[in-house]
Order: sequence, then structure tokens, then C-alpha cells
Amino acid sequence: MSEQFSVNRELFDDVMVPNYAPSAVIPVRGQGSRVWDQQDKEYVDLAGGIAVNCLGHCHPALVGAIQEQSEKIWHLSNVMTNEPALRLAKKLVDNTFAEKVYFANSGAESNEAALKLARRWAIDVHGSDKTQIIAFNQGFHGRTFFTVTVGGQAAYSDGFGPKPGDIVHAEYNNLDSVKALISDKTCAIMIEPLQGEGGIVSPTDEFIKGVRQLCDEHNALLIFDEVQTGAGRLGSLYAYMDLGVTPDILTTAKGLGGGFPIGAMLTTTDIAKHLKIGTHGSTYGGNPLACAVSEAVIDVINTPKVLNGVKAKAKIFADGLQAINTKYNVFKEIRGKGLLIGAVLNDEYQGKAKDFLVAAMSEGVMTLVAGASIVRFAPSLIIPDEDITEGLARFEKAIAKITA
Ligand SMILES: Cc1ncc(COP(=O)(O)O)c(C=O)c1O
Repeated sequence: MSEQFSVNRELFDDVMVPNYAPSAVIPVRGQGSRVWDQQDKEYVDLAGGIAVNCLGHCHPALVGAIQEQSEKIWHLSNVMTNEPALRLAKKLVDNTFAEKVYFANSGAESNEAALKLARRWAIDVHGSDKTQIIAFNQGFHGRTFFTVTVGGQAAYSDGFGPKPGDIVHAEYNNLDSVKALISDKTCAIMIEPLQGEGGIVSPTDEFIKGVRQLCDEHNALLIFDEVQTGAGRLGSLYAYMDLGVTPDILTTAKGLGGGFPIGAMLTTTDIAKHLKIGTHGSTYGGNPLACAVSEAVIDVINTPKVLNGVKAKAKIFADGLQAINTKYNVFKEIRGKGLLIGAVLNDEYQGKAKDFLVAAMSEGVMTLVAGASIVRFAPSLIIPDEDITEGLARFEKAIAKITA
């Protein structure tokens, strides 16, 4: 049946709430790391749906998993449990520090659960005034009112009336700024083990270990938001594994579903027991379709082949970006870890990351930004090496135009 109206970018402005500003292009299909739009123009996808499509588009294992599950059962709610959710939870428990799993539908919801659990744990175990949450400037944890307030950009939480309270912000990679805030009234520190939206900032070894130690000294929980860094993106199943620091609660989403919405909060039995029956929940959390896809994601990515591949591909990226920079001198730094890469624009191009993204799009390559002055790349973890080369060649053409 053909519609009686045109499905195009203008329709977005007609019928959608104006909180997004999507690009003019509407992609209609994808395969691996290539995507085609309504006009059949092809793009190399170096954006991965903002670090979500960890196995590219339409990976056969994920297509197979969703097809198989779609003919069995789609939804039950948490009045009953289901086999995919139980299998996925067992896989997450077997492969991480965690002993218990709570399923949600997004990163924000996973973080909301983590924050509520931390508060409940602290109040139950230590008393009603242990409620302070420490987070970090430029941190990002989602858009629910609790998570966006914990996030480190007040502009995102301003203008909605009274905010959730007892949330303070320290400076990332500045342990003294954490020391200045922490006390026995601190219930938790929420931190990304590499700041994503905030500009692809890695923690120093001393800082991240110091944060763990401060939590221990003050009986506070350490919550790692691995929504962006998790599911193999940095070259280990979860970033904490490479840092030598184990959190008390970890949240994961984005890549966990490889493009199907799912999130999870992982923790220990001792902490989990404070979310008693009825204290928290979600109709869709642990949905069988989502969990079946996610099981397939974990099976594929949690292998030395894929995780070592991430490190090898990261090197191809870094070398390629350096080579571009030698010619055009547009970046002052290329940073990040694994396949979460930030190219920081030099002083001449401050505030212009969006221009690079738009120019890249017209050359047939999808990229991201992280703030106004960093071009970000978060491609499939199994992107073919030749797609990296081709994607960067197209990106170079975009840079040539910008700098001309
Ligand atoms: C570190 C981090 N936490 C949480 C979120 C929010 O996830 P979602 O958009 O799925 O709610 C994001 C999204 O970018 C993120 O990068």
C-alpha cells in the first residue's frame, strides 16, 4: 500500500516533536557497515547509531535470533520470567563481576535503576542521611530527570522545575575535587570509565583507582556507567576489566542490544537484595525479543577474535586519522580507546565539529560529534578493514573541501 503523502525529512517537521534536528538523509537499509538512503546513495557507517550497532547492520546472527524468537513469544511482562532473559542474565553473570541482573530498555533507565538502588541500599544499610551522589562535570547518563541531573551539564536539566536533590559534581581526572566533596554521607559515585558524550576523555590510572579507594573509605558505592563503553567497544567486554577497578554496580545498554533496545544493571547479591519485590520495575524490561538478540550479541562479541579485532581496527583508525592530519592539520589530538575515537579539532576549527559531520555525510560517510569541537567515531566492532579505509578516504575528501 503506498502512502497518500511523501515520507521525507519535511514530514519530520510536520509531525514530530521538535526536540531533535535529524540530518536531511533518511537511511532505509543497511548491511554490515554500509547504509543506503531513500535515493539509494551509499554511506560507510562510522557512527554505529551512536555506539549501538556493535555488529553493524543486519548481522546474520542477530537477524536469526530475532526471527527465531519472533515465532515463539514476544512479550510476557515481569509477571512471568522468560527463557531468553534468564539465559542472557546467566551469560552476563558468568562473564562479569556481577551476581545479579536487572533488565531495562535503555541506558537512562539502567542508570535510573542504579541510582535508585544505590539510594535504597545506603538508606537501608547506613541510615536516611546517606543520600549524596557524586558525579562529574561533562558526564552523561541519560535524559530521565534523575539521570540528567546526575549528568554534568546543567543546561540539559535546567528549565524543568525543581531537580532531584543531593547531587554534586566533581571534575573528571581530578581526585582532589572528589576528595573535597566526599563524606560519610555520600551514597554513590557515578562515573563513566571513559567520558563519551563529554569529549572522549579517558581516566588516568591514578584517578580511577583513587575513586574506587575513596568509595571504600566512605562506604559509598561505585557505579560505572558503561552504557557507551560496554559490550566490547573498548576492546574488553566491559571497560572495568582493563582498568583493574571493579565497580559495585555497572550499567550497560547501547551495544548490548546491537540495535534492539535493551539495557541492564549489573550488581552483587548483597547490594541487589535491597531492590525488594515491588521497589522498582518496567513492563518491557527483560522482553524476550530484546534478550534473544542480546544473547546473540554477547555470543559473537565476547570472543578473543572480536575483542582483539577491536584493538587492531583501532590502530588502523588512529593511523588513518594521523595520515589525514599530516596533510590537512585539522586535529590537535586523536584520542579514545578501542573503537570509541575522538578527533579533537585544532583551534582554527573550534566549535565546527558539526560542519565536519555534515560535509562527511555528503561525501558518503557517517560520523558523530562529541561536543562542539570533537568528531567522534563509534563504528561496528567488526567493521571490515577496507570499510575503515574507504570511510576515512571519504572523510578526507570532506576535510579537503572544508579546508579548501
Ligand atoms: C554513558 C551514557 N550513559 C547513558 C546514556 C543514555 O542512554 P539512552 O539514550 O539509551 O537512554 C548514554 C547515551 O548516550 C551514554 O553515553
